[in-house]
Amino acid sequence: MIRVCKAELDDAEAVREVGLKTWPVAYDGLASPEFVVDGLAEWWSPEAVERGITKGITLIAVDGGECVDGDEERGGECVDGDEERGGECADGDEKRAGEGVGDERVVGMVGLGREGDFWVMWKLYVLPEYQGKGIGKALLDGAIAALPAGTSRLLLDVLVTNEPAIGFYRKNGFGAARSTPDRELGDELIWMSRDL
Ligand SMILES: CC(C)(COP(=O)(O)OP(=O)(O)OC[C@H]1O[C@@H](n2cnc3c(N)ncnc32)[C@H](O)[C@@H]1OP(=O)(O)O)[C@@H](O)C(=O)NCCC(=O)NCCS
Repeated sequence: MIRVCKAELDDAEAVREVGLKTWPVAYDGLASPEFVVDGLAEWWSPEAVERGITKGITLIAVDGGECVDGDEERGGECVDGDEERGGECADGDEKRAGEGVGDERVVGMVGLGREGDFWVMWKLYVLPEYQGKGIGKALLDGAIAALPAGTSRLLLDVLVTNEPAIGFYRKNGFGAARSTPDRELGDELIWMSRDL
């Protein structure tokens, strides 16, 4: 059973582990080794991950444990993408903080932040051995559900060479972005967006 829950600070190390384990595999052959090393240092530092949890929206996919609250069920997964982590998904913050502790494991994460007038999904990562099982889609659905009411569009940036991810995003409603934040992405990354 996979649950999607709002990450808390205790989850920071487990969230970071998802990036450290997924990035080198996902970007092997798609980006330069320097891009991977620099990106891990900049975007997956403990501080960057903690900032994403405290200032943005970070959700985690957790494998194992009980799905307590039946009304969060969605398509076989317990999806809890809003602030109401309290009773449902909070069965062991200390357990979730370390990978493989107890019977729970953080196997994916999504991170969103506000950039000017836009909400941007800066990160969506599923551990390699858990990909292709619907977890990325569950995280995306949870992320959209966690956005403030009335949010009309979600943007993301993706490596231009990352065809698998671009395929996933197209399949899940994203296309070329009509308007974008001011932030300069450089040649390697492109914006995509989805109307909500
Ligand atoms: C991209 C990623 C987040 C997708 O998550 P996932 O758990 O592997 O994908 P899912 O199993 O949830 O796929 C959901 C749907 O998208 C489809 N899909 C997945 N990959 C696809 C692709 N390359 N092309 C087209 N459709 C794709 C699936 O078939 C599925 O469709 P369905 O709902 O009709 O069955 C994940 O594979 C990943 O972490 N990849 C490596 C890191 C990465 O590139 N992240 C994105 C950075 S911008």
